[in-house]
Amino acid sequence: MAMITLIAGARPNFMKIAPLVRAIDAAGLGRRIVHTGQHYDRKMSEAFFEELGIPDPDVNLGVGSGSHVEQLAEVMRRLEAEFRTNRPDVVVVVGDVNSTLAAALTANKLGIPVAHVEAGLRSGDRTMPEEINRILTDGISDWLYTSEPDADENLRKEGIAEERVKLVGNVMIDTLFANLERARAAKPWERLGVPRGGYAVVTLHRPSNVDDPQRLESILRGIHDVVREMPVVFPVHPRTLGRLKEFGFSGREELNGYTAVEPLGYLDMLGLVDSARLVLTDSGGLQEETTALRVPCLTLRENTERPITIEAGNNRLVGWRTEAITSAAAELLAGESRIGTPPELWDGRAAERIVRHLAGATS
Ligand code: UD1
Repeated sequence: MAMITLIAGARPNFMKIAPLVRAIDAAGLGRRIVHTGQHYDRKMSEAFFEELGIPDPDVNLGVGSGSHVEQLAEVMRRLEAEFRTNRPDVVVVVGDVNSTLAAALTANKLGIPVAHVEAGLRSGDRTMPEEINRILTDGISDWLYTSEPDADENLRKEGIAEERVKLVGNVMIDTLFANLERARAAKPWERLGVPRGGYAVVTLHRPSNVDDPQRLESILRGIHDVVREMPVVFPVHPRTLGRLKEFGFSGREELNGYTAVEPLGYLDMLGLVDSARLVLTDSGGLQEETTALRVPCLTLRENTERPITIEAGNNRLVGWRTEAITSAAAELLAGESRIGTPPELWDGRAAERIVRHLAGATS
């Protein structure tokens, strides 16, 4: 029986491994879940395992925060010991966080095949840590599972052999469909005191947006303009919370007015986004989730590694300048509340396709 080790490290990984665990179990394959510990706050980690019904990790490497170099090095050092003790037939990594790259590189150095789920996404922006993580992870992966056709094209251009690449759809959307009814039934908007369908949701955590006071101020001014139209709910990432305090933005009226809440659990966030009139975000995952839900979305970045969300028609790139945010928000608010056409393969069955392929490849 093939033994698969799944790596999870940071918040956006958890919703991606959930359907993979289920599909691996349904196929009767062996598996081990390794949590690197990159994210460790209950709200950023454990809560997701519980809500999504992911079994507890077999091991948590407890790596924690640090510089990116420290994070990568610590994950690699601790994973080497894990892989030597419990050597799998294949290591599955998801997404583009530091834990993803560190695990792929460790497995590769030990001669263990690596499968990368969500391969081939490229923003073209090499200043983003995630972009480097994607390029390097793809470069050393044995099997590359992609979620959109542009990704296949990117990999082809980088000289990656076509037979290693398989377009399977989007595992995060598997999780979305598996949980949508539960999320709607939880009615998170009621607990937050905002009217269903009549509020905006904001998330912000990219270093390029939140570590630069000028950009962060400019974005907050744009958000303040949306606040004049409707309530805005803003679950604040720990990094962003730190910057808001550091830059002294918390007390300034023209940069506030939104409802700040702690990071939300998966179901609350999904329910909230599904019933939002508008989402403003710099997250990759939310661009995809709003596309699957057909919710209007403004991406507070200059580029996206997920161009299919733009082609689908619900997502727009607006960058960080106040005027661009304000005018695009006004346009979207004047239009329909559900827009765009989700991609065909985002059908809730991506994990099944991956595991079917993996089972064949490892037998
Ligand atoms: C990481 C990922 C990013 C992903 C994001 C989602 C990388 C390079 N980046 O960024 O792609 O979109 O997760 O959340 O891997 N912190 C806590 N508690 C935690 C985790 C972090 O307080 O549980 C604080 C720490 O001060 C830490 C900071 O947040 O230094 C940043 O955490 P880190 O994991 O380095 O990167 P993220 O910004 O979360």
